[in-house]
Amino acid sequence: MNIDYRVNTPVCGEELIGVFKSVGWKKDENVIVKAFQNSYYVLAYSDNQLVGFARAISDDYFYTGIYDVVVKPTFQGKGIAKKMMEKLLQKYKGTYFFLTYTNGNREFYEKCGFKDNEQSMWIPK
Ligand SMILES: CC(C)(COP(=O)(O)OP(=O)(O)OC[C@H]1O[C@@H](n2cnc3c(N)ncnc32)[C@H](O)[C@@H]1OP(=O)(O)O)[C@@H](O)C(=O)NCCC(=O)NCCS
Repeated sequence: MNIDYRVNTPVCGEELIGVFKSVGWKKDENVIVKAFQNSYYVLAYSDNQLVGFARAISDDYFYTGIYDVVVKPTFQGKGIAKKMMEKLLQKYKGTYFFLTYTNGNREFYEKCGFKDNEQSMWIPK
């Protein structure tokens, strides 16, 4: 399967929402493109159809957060998310990386090199 990875290329809300919906996530179509534009993002395409994405927000020197790592169910298990993560990790190599994960996904991030950190906190929305 030929997957085309694109970085920070224009993408429309409808395409993004379609991928979010495919995994049962709800996002506001009115602001999702702006959120991506405020991030560094990788898009994965198969036959010019968006099948996955991952994004990061970084200060470029010290700290990087990873968000919205999603692959459409029919394209999962093919290494697409790992490849997108590699691109984010490479881009901000040398910074600390942080993320929160949803149930069942811890092992995926372990395979990308993440380790537990008991000294993190957050304020949920
Ligand atoms: C999590 C997700 C992004 C993984 O995408 P994917 O393209 O299927 O992952 P990959 O094929 O790149 O997997 C890379 C490795 O992680 C493993 N892996 C992937 N998802 C896993 C999971 N949920 N649990 C354990 N291992 C997992 C794969 O088996 C593979 O292992 P290998 O390198 O030893 O072969 C995808 O399942 C998804 O979009 N889920 C719904 C949205 C979501 O929950 N995103 C994460 C938010 S925290």
